[in-house]
Amino acid sequence: MPVKIFLNEDEIPRQWYNLAADLPTPPQPPLGPDGNPVSPDMLAPVFPMNLIEQEVSQERWIDIPEEVLELLYKYRPSPLHRAFGLEKALGTPAKIYFKNESVSPAGSHKPNTAIPQAWYNKQFGIEKLTTETGAGQWGSALSFAGALVGLDIEVFMVRISFDQKPFRKVMMETWGGKCVPSPSPKTQAGRDILAKMPDTPGSLGIAISEAVEAAVTDPSGKTRYSLGSVLNHVMLHQTIIGLETKKQLEKIGEKRVDVVIGCAGGGSNFAGLAFPFVSDKINGADIDIIPVEPKSCPTMTRAPFAYDHGDTAKMTPLLPMHSLGHNFIPPPIHAGGLRYHGMSPLVSQAIVEGLLAPRAVHQLDSYESAVLFARTEGIIVAPETSHAVAAAIDEAKKAKEEGRKKVIVFSLSGHGLMDLLGYQKYFAGELTNYSLPEDELKKSEEIFADLPKPSTAKTGKW
Ligand SMILES: Cc1ncc(COP(=O)(O)O)c(C=O)c1O
Repeated sequence: MPVKIFLNEDEIPRQWYNLAADLPTPPQPPLGPDGNPVSPDMLAPVFPMNLIEQEVSQERWIDIPEEVLELLYKYRPSPLHRAFGLEKALGTPAKIYFKNESVSPAGSHKPNTAIPQAWYNKQFGIEKLTTETGAGQWGSALSFAGALVGLDIEVFMVRISFDQKPFRKVMMETWGGKCVPSPSPKTQAGRDILAKMPDTPGSLGIAISEAVEAAVTDPSGKTRYSLGSVLNHVMLHQTIIGLETKKQLEKIGEKRVDVVIGCAGGGSNFAGLAFPFVSDKINGADIDIIPVEPKSCPTMTRAPFAYDHGDTAKMTPLLPMHSLGHNFIPPPIHAGGLRYHGMSPLVSQAIVEGLLAPRAVHQLDSYESAVLFARTEGIIVAPETSHAVAAAIDEAKKAKEEGRKKVIVFSLSGHGLMDLLGYQKYFAGELTNYSLPEDELKKSEEIFADLPKPSTAKTGKW
């Protein structure tokens, strides 16, 4: 049995998979401030039309342009590993596989969409992209992609991560990107927040407001905004993860998968691995598909499915998603990329359908799992990824109790070599567990009172 399963470049999937085509209940549209669906034209100041077309597409398969594939070959196809060491340490009969997205130059799955987004913008005549970043992974990935296709990149980085992870800024600068701590005095949204909360740790919601404002107020008209997660076209680009995984499992004769796991901040690495398996589930396969989040930011496990803004300053349309409220500022846990108030509408709709079984884990459990993983498999995972590792370990223990040879596949979304401060604090006993109190949850729910409500009807049988 191989430890690593590779694909040749000529075996890379040549189309992305679009779950919107197969969801039993079609995805609900984004809404404008008047409560009416947003038309593609209304999104044009923010995104290029070729990406807007993907955002609203109902086509099941979308071709990956040859030039994009050539750029992806810099690190793809990524290896699928069998975690023999972890299995042995757990004494489980389960087979644990992980798809290793840490092999990209930026250290995570994020370039899988950064590269196509930069390429489509370039094709459309755009010269500069603005964006936000939580942990710094996305800002690094877009800076890398900007260098490949020749675009200027400006990144608003959540203040707490900017302070905790100074070398991410250096990575962005090495690829030619510019990195600004958020909230910043550069935008109206940033100035408003700083006036009210000068010491705020920042949030992804605030950084998104700044990045959107910086794009739409550029008088040249040659700047657009780029989002690293949440949106349909981002989920689409990431499905290359799951499509490769299926080919790799097929290569070694692994016929069925019992459990699929990914951590979820905005949902993209999870969706990337899971959506091709969700398609199997819709078609009758018996698979547990588990997105994992932190207990401190329990978007999928405790927050309602609501129409909400993607950002704090309400610059984005209302999206139908699980949300803790657009002005929610999550506690500063170390998994910066999981500190987002919302969730991908496609992931949210799949939860409403009962196709997914979301789970929340505590910070200390995720670090404990990451340390076991590092000592058995070698890779020091990102704090975000450690949530997926924790769930994979739980599932492997469950398989042991049940005496079942389950096949478990999880997404190793990134390495943690830029996140060692979190590990240092964990070893020093300085990290704590934190569950969001019920009254905080109620407070954020009040925000939805005056907003339109999405339908929670489900047509599937799950
Ligand atoms: C390594 C890693 N994993 C996961 C995430 C969460 O994002 P998403 O849910 O879009 O995959 C991030 C976000 O920054 C990340 O850096």
